[in-house]
Amino acid sequence: MKNQQRRCVCPGSYDPVTMGHVDVITRAATLFDEVVVAVLHNAAKQGAFGVQERIKLLDAALVGVPNVRIEAFADQLLVDVCRQAGAQAIVKGLRGGTDFAYELPMAQMNRHLSGVETVFLPGDPRFGHVSSSLIKEVAALGGDITGLVPEDVRAALLARTQNTL
Ligand code: PNS
Repeated sequence: MKNQQRRCVCPGSYDPVTMGHVDVITRAATLFDEVVVAVLHNAAKQGAFGVQERIKLLDAALVGVPNVRIEAFADQLLVDVCRQAGAQAIVKGLRGGTDFAYELPMAQMNRHLSGVETVFLPGDPRFGHVSSSLIKEVAALGGDITGLVPEDVRAALLARTQNTL
C-alpha cells in the first residue's frame, strides 16, 4: 500500500446536491487523497435535474475542494465504478438510524461483491433533516431553504418555482 493513492467514491443521485452532501464530501476529502463523486444517471428515471445540470451544481458547490473529481455513471454496479476509479472505499453520510438500516445491506453487498469497504460518516446535525426530495418539495411550495443547499441550487430551484407559477 506504500505510495498508493487513497481514493474513495461518494456515490449518489445528487438531485440536487445539498449542504449535507457537501459536508460529507468535504470531510471525505480530508481523509482520502482523492474523492470521486459518482453521480447516478438513471435513464429510466428522469430526475428533477438532468445529470449534466446536477454535475454543474456539484462542481460549483465543491469549487473550494481541490482533490475532488465528479463523474456520472449508469447501468453499472457501484463496485465496478470503484474498481475503475481505483478506489478502496465508498464514503456515505448517515443522518440517523433509518439511513443506517438502508445503507448496511448495501455496504455488506458491496463488500461481498468486491471487498470494497464502506466508511460511514456521522451526518452533521445541522443537516439531519435535509434530503434532496424534502428540499425539492419545500422549495416548490415556497418554503425557505437558505443554508440547506448551495446558493446556486437555491437559485435554480427558485427559478423553477417562478417558471411554474
Ligand atoms: O442518492 P441515492 O439515490 O440514495 O444513491 C443511491 C446509490 C447511487 C448509492 C445506489 O443506488 C447505488 O449504489 N447504485 C448503483 C447500482 C448498484 O451497485 N446496486 C447495488 C448496490 S448494493
